[in-house]
Amino acid sequence: MKILTLNGVNLNMLGIREPSIYGDKNYEALDKFIRKCYKQNKVSGDVLQTNREYELVEEIQGAYNNYDGIIINAGAYTHTSVAILDALKAVSIPTVEVHLSDVNAREDFRKTSYISLYAEKVITGKGFDGYAEAVKYLADKYGKK
Ligand code: DQA
Repeated sequence: MKILTLNGVNLNMLGIREPSIYGDKNYEALDKFIRKCYKQNKVSGDVLQTNREYELVEEIQGAYNNYDGIIINAGAYTHTSVAILDALKAVSIPTVEVHLSDVNAREDFRKTSYISLYAEKVITGKGFDGYAEAVKYLADKYGKK
């Protein structure tokens, strides 16, 4: 099984941005953590971060026929991007949406997620462990490929 984890806008600022919300570990630590989760669950995959919405769309399009699962934390694009939702619908790959913080306990605008209209599972407020849960979910459900 092959998983693509996509991290969107401002996640490269982890460790610097609002540590009381997002913690003090940096993006490199998150990248390493996700790759370790792949190994533990005996899946292969890639991890990438971009601040550009169109790159997220292109990565999702490129995942067609190349990945069996997608994990996505689109950052603020979660709350605005019909384009990312449409890309996920287009490729129809099992997708888990992850947020480090508990978006439902924050500002009202964070309660709207376009990605949730497609994602089969949404994990919020568990920090890095949310990604571990997402990898395990996809590996357990689709990993026999
Ligand atoms: C986030 C939550 C979003 O509302 C915010 O814009 C982010 C990070 C999270 O991981 O908690 O950039 O996706």
